[in-house]
Amino acid sequence: MFEELSEIHRKPDLFSVYTAETLWTEPHLAQQMLKTHLDQTTPLASRPLHIIDQTMQWLDEKFGLNGKRICDLGCGPGLYAERYAQRGAQVEGMDFSASSIEYATLNSDPGRGSLAFRQANYLTDGLPTQQDLITLIYCDFCVLSPSQRAALLDKVRRSLNSEGAFVFDVSSMKAFETVSEGIVFARNYMDGFWTVDECYVFHSTWKYETAAVSLDLFTIVEEQKTWRVYNWLQHFSQSTLEAELKSSGFEIDDISSRFDASDTEAHSFTVVARRFGS
Ligand SMILES: C[S@@+](CC[C@H](N)C(=O)[O-])C[C@H]1O[C@@H](n2cnc3c(N)ncnc32)[C@H](O)[C@@H]1O
Repeated sequence: MFEELSEIHRKPDLFSVYTAETLWTEPHLAQQMLKTHLDQTTPLASRPLHIIDQTMQWLDEKFGLNGKRICDLGCGPGLYAERYAQRGAQVEGMDFSASSIEYATLNSDPGRGSLAFRQANYLTDGLPTQQDLITLIYCDFCVLSPSQRAALLDKVRRSLNSEGAFVFDVSSMKAFETVSEGIVFARNYMDGFWTVDECYVFHSTWKYETAAVSLDLFTIVEEQKTWRVYNWLQHFSQSTLEAELKSSGFEIDDISSRFDASDTEAHSFTVVARRFGS
């Protein structure tokens, strides 16, 4: 048991494993995530609807959504995509969770716009072309490794029209400062979130100081198998983000806390990036 516990507590190499697909698409977890997206009492998967409505107001004032072609990456159950369409946009929502796409397709009202949802992986599948706006909301840019982010930025760049903008949010260095390393162990951790049957969960938190990355690592021990979910989070300062965007052919048009006015501690910030040289 000592060796197994030591292995569980071994710090993984930075961005060595990518398990986002398990977290969002494993059938039991996908159902749990869908519930979490829609639950107004927890901001774990989506921001509350009153904040999303404020975001929408800001996006509409900034971009004039009516008539715009918009692709929402990682759209979840379509909370933003539906609202873009209701403001007159032609919208495609992409997400690799079948549960979220099914919910979005059945429950969204496009209003005066148009709305399509596609079950797809934005890292490996094609993005629509000639977009006015591509959005990636709730710090999902930060869960990707540097090479995944560079590949995604390249795809986004090619999918935007020459005036188009990529709008996304990232976790800040202030948020990084609040992370502390540790390990928690519990039976049926998070009230049955991880499995239907009994399980034991180790939740380890690691920090990679130089890289400004944190990791929440969940080791789920079931009767028949043990498996792990790695939640990496890259944190940015304005200058590290600016440098990363520049090397992928983007410049920052606007940077603020617009996606979440309730985030008074500035744990995340919103970025409007545009292609340069086009
Ligand atoms: C934190 S949630 C945010 C959902 C939505 N943007 C919102 O704020 O309501 C991240 C979403 O991205 C999706 N996702 C994560 N990685 C993805 C990928 N590589 N391709 C497609 N969807 C992905 C997940 O299924 C999930 O719905």
